[in-house]
Amino acid sequence: MGDEKRWVRLCGLFDLPIRGGRLFKAAGGGKRDVLVFRLEGGALRAYDAACPHAGALLRPENEMSGTLICFLHHWRFDVATGGCVDVPQRPLVAYEVEARGMDIMLALTDGAGGVAAP
Ligand code: FES
Repeated sequence: MGDEKRWVRLCGLFDLPIRGGRLFKAAGGGKRDVLVFRLEGGALRAYDAACPHAGALLRPENEMSGTLICFLHHWRFDVATGGCVDVPQRPLVAYEVEARGMDIMLALTDGAGGVAAP
């Protein structure tokens, strides 16, 4: 078991609009559900979709004005940084994501920081 990184294509760049978010369910042998946001200006962010409080599934439709709210106990997260507004020591788990040409690519590792394949 190593921490080798491989990149997988999530979707096309235009499949995720500016200020939009999308949930990618684990598939293809992946371990995690991943939330991806495209910020104002186009920067991408990817986070584990399990809430760091008690593991509820975070959903992109629960994001408003850059704040993502967990439906279960209403912790709030800053989509740009992954920081938790209510409990700062419990941020979202972030993953590497980037645009390559017209594709959105997510870095997967198989080690301790393992990420889902979408
Ligand atoms: S599980 Fe998300 S705030 Fe409790």
